Amino acid sequence: TLYPLLAALAGYLVGSLSFAVIISKAMGLNDPRSYGSGNPGATNVLRSGNKAAAILTLVFDALKGYVPVLLVLLFGQPYGLGEGTAAMVGLAAFLGHLWPVFFRFQGGKGVATAAGVLLAINPLLGGATLVTWLIIAYFSRYSSLASMVSAAFAPFYQMLIWGGGPVVLAIGVMGLLLIWRHEGNIRKLLAGKESKLGQKAAGAA
Ligand code: G3P
Repeated sequence: TLYPLLAALAGYLVGSLSFAVIISKAMGLNDPRSYGSGNPGATNVLRSGNKAAAILTLVFDALKGYVPVLLVLLFGQPYGLGEGTAAMVGLAAFLGHLWPVFFRFQGGKGVATAAGVLLAINPLLGGATLVTWLIIAYFSRYSSLASMVSAAFAPFYQMLIWGGGPVVLAIGVMGLLLIWRHEGNIRKLLAGKESKLGQKAAGAA
């Protein structure tokens, strides 16, 4: 049937809503693509100094991963959509965030959206990954480092909880893409030039 494909397409479209850009615009802030790392994500919106905007970006970018996956898990069964499809729909939302059809395919790094997907797949998986992020972020103060390490751990958490399968594959692909999108961050980290959480960007306001 076409249902899995339609669900993935819907996930991709929802994921394409770049909330860093949408919320910044709605709140009268500068476009996050114009300052700091230039990344349309919660971390970079935080560099504007507006915490509320950053939190809203984080929540909505996470919701666009969370809601589509949860909808498939809750209502997909009569249409033959199971956990594998749910993970695929989450991956599609994540891909939408990275390559948004509404924003010339120039999106973000997928951290918040991936977190939403993981939380919907399994709260324990999402929770373990979030705790990983918090620990690394607390000690290093690098959002990017915390995101990459968490993304690397997530597939293993999933394997420990549920064993292998298509869900692990989807989470693994998400993690690899997420880390790949952090190429610039990796360079800056190695050069000691990555900005720490709480540092504001020049030209943001
Ligand atoms: O939210 C993505 C984060 O891991 C890094 O963002 O703006 O520091 O490149 P940024």
